[in-house]
Amino acid sequence: MFPDHFLWGGALAANQCEGAYLEDGKGLSISDIMPKGVSAPPTEHPTPDNLKLIGTDFYHRYPEDIKLLAEMGFKVFRTSIAWSRIYPNGDDKTPNEAGLAFYDKVFDTCLQYGIQPMVTLSHYETPLHLADAYDGWRCRGMIGFFLNYCQTVFRRYQGKVKYWLTFNEINSIFNHPFLSGGIRTDPKKLTFADKLQAAHHELVASAAATKLAHEIDPENKVGCMIASVPNYPNSPNPDDVIKVMELDQQARLFPVVHAKGRYPSCLKRMLQEYGAQFAITREDADILKNTVDFISFSYYMSRCISADPNAQRETFFGKLAKNPYLHDTAWGWPIDPQGLRWALNDLYDRYGKPLFIAENGIGAADVLVERSGEKTVADDYRIHYLREHLKQVELAIADGVDVMGYAAWGCIDLVSASTAQMSKRYGLVYVDRNDDGSGTLARYRKQSFYWYKHLIQTNGRSLHEQ
Ligand code: BG6
Repeated sequence: MFPDHFLWGGALAANQCEGAYLEDGKGLSISDIMPKGVSAPPTEHPTPDNLKLIGTDFYHRYPEDIKLLAEMGFKVFRTSIAWSRIYPNGDDKTPNEAGLAFYDKVFDTCLQYGIQPMVTLSHYETPLHLADAYDGWRCRGMIGFFLNYCQTVFRRYQGKVKYWLTFNEINSIFNHPFLSGGIRTDPKKLTFADKLQAAHHELVASAAATKLAHEIDPENKVGCMIASVPNYPNSPNPDDVIKVMELDQQARLFPVVHAKGRYPSCLKRMLQEYGAQFAITREDADILKNTVDFISFSYYMSRCISADPNAQRETFFGKLAKNPYLHDTAWGWPIDPQGLRWALNDLYDRYGKPLFIAENGIGAADVLVERSGEKTVADDYRIHYLREHLKQVELAIADGVDVMGYAAWGCIDLVSASTAQMSKRYGLVYVDRNDDGSGTLARYRKQSFYWYKHLIQTNGRSLHEQ
């Protein structure tokens, strides 16, 4: 059973939906120069083939979009503020009023419908100038720029926004240093120590932002946001199990620091292993003690890990073994609903903080059809995916896990982060836009829209209807 106050909703990110990439004083962000997502190195300047420059035009269509979310009965809507709309260069002295006014309108519209906004402060959209001039989060000065931005938005939206997330999928900095940390240096030239130092700057900034949010308004609830990808050993071979342990320790650095306010003891061994130098000042150690109110995370898949090179195959996510018990999406992401129950139990047992599922969903190539005179998508596969994952959330709640809510990722179709395609769709609402940029940008309700609406109406009980 889902609790009465369960926050049903969905999530978008500014850089993938807003478009209007230079409108009303916005500066460039790193995503504006990533026309192929992470599949190719960034360009020097924005290029016309980058679908994110227009996105799904949320910037102009937010009243219609939020109305659709309200029609589904959303209780929460997670989106991000594009930092470069507020501080176009990131290190400016004064904020851009037009950018601030835009989010006033977005949050006011949500509140009119009784929808709580949940705001990610940094979702893969670091101002480009900070990447170019400072090499992103490798520079300690980023902490000050970020806190200045946080102070501006915490004050401006006080009383409107209560839920804040600091860095989207903060642990992704190890794999995607430019996307995640605005680090311009060629990833091949970065050592583990470089990435760890950048991660440390983000962790200090995250803890300081949490402190600031609480000082400005004690009603604020601040969460971290991590990419949760359970690692399964490919076999009972102790080599595989130890490899899983090592990967888990690296991933857990982030929730441990956020929830316990200190680094785990395995850090020492990791530093020795990579020959890395890393000093934590007394001041940093004190700031890190400002722990989060809740942990949010994305969940899309689990991974199967082998220490044996012969059992590995090259995938988008690195060298992995094939899990013979799971099927993949069309984009090769293993579908594993039970992994979500595992992740919820694991995070709750370890950290004891309330959990929010900030992203979950299936990317698929939807086809628009005509049904009873209405354009729609017969996305039974999406309904099946969401139903099976939510059944596991319900089981985790029965296990005793405190789950605050669930946000369906890309609730309105948006541009993919990894591939920058429009055709990799997650939405409950279809947006008429194609990979070549053509399309009217009109919105159409998919069959999953009606399914999710009914699910929210019944507070999850309809999961068990045939
Ligand atoms: C998460 C990101 O990694 O996964 C989102 O926080 C992203 O920004 C989502 O869109 C799905 O990934 P993709 O690459 O299919 O868009």
